[in-house]
Amino acid sequence: MVLSRRTFSAFAGSAALGFSLSGSVSSEASAAGRAPLAPTGPAPGPPAADGRTHTVGFDRYSMLVDGKRLVLWSGEVHPFRLPSPSLWRDVLEKLRAHGYNTISIYVSWNYHSAAPGSYDFTGVRDLDLFLRTAAETGLYVILRPGPYINAEVDAGGFPGWLTVTPGTARTSDPTYLKYVDEWLTAVDRIAARHLYTHGGGTVVLYQLENEYANNVTSPLGRDYMTHLYAKVRADGIDVPLFHNDKGRNGHWAPGTFDTDGETGRYLYAFDGYPSPVGQPPDWGYFGIGGAKGGSTASPETPGFMAEFGGGWFDPWGGAEFDGKGYAESRRTRDAAYERRFYLTNLANGIKIHNVYMTFGGTSWGWLPAPIVYTSYDYGAALDEARRPTEKLIPMHQIGQLLHCVPDLAKLDRAPDVTVGDDTAVKAYPLVNPDTGARFLVLRNDASSETVVQVPLAGSTVPVPVPGLDARLVATGISLGRRTLRHSSAQPMLWLTAGRQDIAVFTGRAGEPTQTAIECASEPTVTVLEGNAGHEYADGLLRVDAPLDGLTRVLVEGGGTAAPLLLLLADDTASGRLWRYDTPSGPVLVHGPELLRSAALRGTAVHLTGDTVAAADLEVWGPRGTTEVVWNQGTVKTRATRSGSLRAVQQLPGVPAVRLPALTNWRRSEENPESAAGFDDSSWRTADKKSSFSVTPVPAGQPVLFADDYGFHYGDVWYRGHFASAGDAESVSLSYVTGAQGLLMAWLDGEPLGTHRMPVPDKKTVRQGTWEATATFPVEPGTRGPHVLSVLVRRMQHDEDGAARDTHKVARGLTAVSFAGASPSLAWRIRGEGAPDRVRGPLNNGGLYGERHGWHLPGFADAGWKVVDLPRAERRQGVVWYRCDFRLAVDTGVDASIGLTLTDDPARAYRVQIFLNGWNMGQYINDVGPQHTFVLPNGLLRTRGSNTLALAVLSDGTTPAGPGQVRLTLLGSAAGGVPVAPVDSPGPAKRGARR
Ligand code: GAL
Repeated sequence: MVLSRRTFSAFAGSAALGFSLSGSVSSEASAAGRAPLAPTGPAPGPPAADGRTHTVGFDRYSMLVDGKRLVLWSGEVHPFRLPSPSLWRDVLEKLRAHGYNTISIYVSWNYHSAAPGSYDFTGVRDLDLFLRTAAETGLYVILRPGPYINAEVDAGGFPGWLTVTPGTARTSDPTYLKYVDEWLTAVDRIAARHLYTHGGGTVVLYQLENEYANNVTSPLGRDYMTHLYAKVRADGIDVPLFHNDKGRNGHWAPGTFDTDGETGRYLYAFDGYPSPVGQPPDWGYFGIGGAKGGSTASPETPGFMAEFGGGWFDPWGGAEFDGKGYAESRRTRDAAYERRFYLTNLANGIKIHNVYMTFGGTSWGWLPAPIVYTSYDYGAALDEARRPTEKLIPMHQIGQLLHCVPDLAKLDRAPDVTVGDDTAVKAYPLVNPDTGARFLVLRNDASSETVVQVPLAGSTVPVPVPGLDARLVATGISLGRRTLRHSSAQPMLWLTAGRQDIAVFTGRAGEPTQTAIECASEPTVTVLEGNAGHEYADGLLRVDAPLDGLTRVLVEGGGTAAPLLLLLADDTASGRLWRYDTPSGPVLVHGPELLRSAALRGTAVHLTGDTVAAADLEVWGPRGTTEVVWNQGTVKTRATRSGSLRAVQQLPGVPAVRLPALTNWRRSEENPESAAGFDDSSWRTADKKSSFSVTPVPAGQPVLFADDYGFHYGDVWYRGHFASAGDAESVSLSYVTGAQGLLMAWLDGEPLGTHRMPVPDKKTVRQGTWEATATFPVEPGTRGPHVLSVLVRRMQHDEDGAARDTHKVARGLTAVSFAGASPSLAWRIRGEGAPDRVRGPLNNGGLYGERHGWHLPGFADAGWKVVDLPRAERRQGVVWYRCDFRLAVDTGVDASIGLTLTDDPARAYRVQIFLNGWNMGQYINDVGPQHTFVLPNGLLRTRGSNTLALAVLSDGTTPAGPGQVRLTLLGSAAGGVPVAPVDSPGPAKRGARR
């Protein structure tokens, strides 16, 4: 479409509305006497462990790395939620490709420490390897080792053993600090090797504590924070430190505690999880700001959002998302939510922006806090099965923009702008005082689309803003050797490839766009692909085009020797455009599902990446590039008028992946502990009189809390012996668990029954603690001795978000009493065996089968009975099922595979799932909502044999499964990363104790 002069004039307007750009705003800046605070230049290239010394600092606008401004565009990823180190690279490459320049990670103390003085950073816990991989991928790292992390993990990251130590955690209590120092010494020894300041890695920021909102003004808190600061510095961590305030309260802002006399090396940060239904918060830059100092509550440090909601978690039963699970979290915090909330954050002055979560992963084993089930998918941009979702696209668009347009790293608020009379659209005008580049974030808080008339650099430009969405428009930014006057589309990136500049603008499919580029004289314009009109007048080339795939407009001449290729990409097309920086210059690739790497060797550009469906491949490389290699195979290409090399044939998609049915199950019952004659003489005697738990020990009774006897995770057994039951009528068992805990009891081997904690709703799940008393009628025979056997599935420890030692709330039995008699019971207790040296302390609880290696590959199950699934048996106790299966996924195919369990939801049973001995989580058939459990490759042998073991706990009130158990293909791609098998030793190497 070529616009007529008449149409063109109808779009053009006047600058009267005040947001005008004349190309002279930099002189306005100097006229205002504002000297640049720091050099403004291109954003630094991707970081690496380059062995060189770097400076990492900040001013009130942004981070300054080697003196260059940098906006950190970060995603939260937890290494401990992906127990397959090879896949860390996959996740990080996917984020880097999609425009993130930073990741933020927690390090979870409990994951690394089975006992005081024991700190393990090997195998799936190899922090050093994770940080190396991040550096190799070109990502900065924000390191958050706690000591407290929250994070929906057991005890908020505190090790089980810490629950039985004296003193109050998260204060300056000396015992607590002694253990904290042990942990920090261990983690900092690794962190110090990866600091960007020394070129050993890419760690640029380090967080102290987590959302510490208590004791803010008391010495207990101040001395604690002071201690952490001094300790971390003493450990050689010399990058800026920060704390993440729970909200923009000003807690722990610089100057509120003693930072060892240091100034300017500590940042203020805060977290935000606003409801996706309301309006995005204005933290202050654009709001009233006032006493709290604008977006930062700390005027001399840059706006820093240490965590901003990228989804949300879901409790057992799925109350948060009405049983719909994480798909609903993703739907309610979708791509438009990201644009609306995150662009508002940028408009509010946030320059360090971390989205929690960006890859949520799996809370495997006994890692999840009571409030969540196994999947920690979170509705994040990259799903639990590592599949890119549409939520990556806005992040990609904005991330690329922040890299290519460094003007965004230093913004002041510009005078207000009126954008027509549509009050639903809020406009945030911003200006870079050094370059004069101007930006306007336009946010539509109404549900229907509107087109606002926006004054942009002398023209009034119609800009469509879809309902509940936002966009950023710019004027005066460089597009290489030309300057953008305005565009109604959002700029995404520009680069110079060969002799031409390439600039990409994006928006929603079907939107009309108008883009004006400064040209000293009339250029030659060729529409290479798509539908676009163009016009030249008054030093401006205007291109009008609806967004539909990838529209290409070649601009030649016009006073600039180098051609400009203008690419107008709808969201889908922008998600197939990949920029990659090489030492010889940037490369732009279009077509495949993912670009992982690009390297230039001679005249060839070597690319690695993924395809799902058959895909085009087009490459713009540095001058002299004549050959393209994709995943080690040379691709036949031809040169295009776009200045690219384009594959003559499409890249193939992924071949079909076939998964076997799971057959040949073997079955074995356990819970011999419930039998009257079971020999428990090797068990620990439970006779302690006092505890450091915050749960009171009932008068006249021994401590029965599992932690006090060294049993911190999973199921715990009790056997109470007594000589005579007298006239006992009933027994009452008081117990405490996390959400969805349960208790089963037997008297002299006969089942008494099961008691379960209720399914949490949105309100109760937050109360944290689940305590109940189960009363069972008893009819003991007159002749003793008797034995009361009790199994408690206690789930996990509470988090300690409010710093009240709630991780020390007891788990297990708390009190036992009889009606009609008062027998004196002698108790023995048994929980988990010695921690699995490879799989870590959180892998196992205290079931008989776990203590005897029934979950492990290679366990001798030949004597077990062969059965078919589904099953329906009624029995109180534990039954195991094991099966072996072989996979033969093609080499070079990254298949994401899950295990899906389904059954009649009335059946009351739960299953612990072990893959090759690794505890992949817990399925509760009558609670849900999770049915599919991701089995990460590496743990899962995709070319080889695997062992599944299911420990089924059923309460005997209904028939129990397993019902249908099958492998599910969650996604597949040709490409992926090389995956090394994760060590999965069998019984011999594990050294389990009985
Ligand atoms: C934050 C906390 C995180 C995590 C998040 C909710 O308040 O810092 O650790 O718990 O909430 O997912």
